[in-house]
Amino acid sequence: MRIFLKVWRQAAPDARGGFVDYTAEHVSPDMSFLEMLDVVNEGLIAQGQDPIAFDSDCREGICGTCGFMVGGIAHGPDPGTTVCQLHMRRFRNDDRIVVEPWRARAFPVLKDLVVDRSALDRIIQAGGYTSINVGGAQDGNAILVSKTASDQAMDSAACIQCGACVAACKNASAALFTGAKITHLALLPQGQPERATRVLAMVDRHDAEGFGSCSNEGECEAVCPKEIPITNIARMNREYFRASLTRG
Ligand code: SF4
Ligand code: FES
Repeated sequence: MRIFLKVWRQAAPDARGGFVDYTAEHVSPDMSFLEMLDVVNEGLIAQGQDPIAFDSDCREGICGTCGFMVGGIAHGPDPGTTVCQLHMRRFRNDDRIVVEPWRARAFPVLKDLVVDRSALDRIIQAGGYTSINVGGAQDGNAILVSKTASDQAMDSAACIQCGACVAACKNASAALFTGAKITHLALLPQGQPERATRVLAMVDRHDAEGFGSCSNEGECEAVCPKEIPITNIARMNREYFRASLTRG
């Protein structure tokens, strides 16, 4: 296959960026999108040019490191998939694909397709610790958790912090991410001691980082590689309201 790429190139955070055209030749349908970019980069390096910068680590949809817009869609056109799991068989010969970084005020571009997502880390940090007795190993049945609660908590914990929800949202809101993190612990007995202080601190941090508010458009759910539903945002709002009533 031959693929025509239009890639956002930006040398540094304060540099002026722009789209540059590249042609990827001899692309195998079995290549992942990132492997295709690897081949493009090998060609650029061979010509003495700066390779296209992008983040990746596990390349199997686990770590949340990768992520950029492919054809205007966060992580590309396949649902429930990170860009490292996107394969070139999804495209046709001579397709034209625009590739650009996440766009959000809270995610400044560092270089090319790499953005600074440390704002998400700071939301997690704002949540603080959970008070868990880490003494000797407990009996497995000492703290009972219902099957429904453990399943829902696990589904929320599946968030890999990729930031696609922010990139897809017209408000650049990180409500799905924050809601997933809050829901995860709010449903479990271990998350109860700091339940109120956690949600207040995390939502306040979310707003302070410059993320927008949720207006229930649902783009976040549509692009989330872990298919986290927006019911997590509804739970976050309920948790925040409940905690606000007791705020000191
Ligand atoms: S909620 Fe989904 S899209 Fe948002 S950071 Fe988590 S895994 Fe990524
Ligand atoms: S590189 Fe780890 S999720 Fe894509």
